[in-house]
Amino acid sequence: MKTSSWFSKMIGTAMTLDNLENVLMLQLRDLYSAEQQLIDALPKMEEAASSPQLKQAFRTHLAETRQHKTRLEQAFRILRQEPTAETCDAMKGLISEGEEIVGLEGEPEVKDAAIIAAAQRVEHYEMAGYGCARTFARRLGRNEIAELLQQTLDEESNANELLTHIAEESVNVHAATA
Ligand SMILES: [Fe+2]
Repeated sequence: MKTSSWFSKMIGTAMTLDNLENVLMLQLRDLYSAEQQLIDALPKMEEAASSPQLKQAFRTHLAETRQHKTRLEQAFRILRQEPTAETCDAMKGLISEGEEIVGLEGEPEVKDAAIIAAAQRVEHYEMAGYGCARTFARRLGRNEIAELLQQTLDEESNANELLTHIAEESVNVHAATA
């Protein structure tokens, strides 16, 4: 099986680990793929959610996610690179786990809890990616890119906190133990 983590993509390419800008570029491509995949997945998660608050959170995050994709395109332009994505298999896996949950029958509130669990995994994955890419951009003195990535990182982090809040406030724990 062909692996395609951001790291394995460097093997067999002209890119080497002695150039941090190449690592940044690969991170950006990975994130670009992740955002594209999430744009397709979020409407399905919204449809599967029952809580109006959770549905709204997914709608809001879809709008933000489109903005995240645009910011990455800006970063590619600054680096004078084509915005290209190489399928991010990690996001693909996280989304396919989410889709499994979306397809399950169950108590609406319990299903919401499971959807939140899947969504928070996605947010944490993105936070890790943006955090690293932001740090690399800073180290390279690419402050404009670092700023773009930080804005997205803040939105991912807020989305994650909102999901925690919804899980705490609106998921019926009694249903979970019934
Ligand atoms: Fe995002």
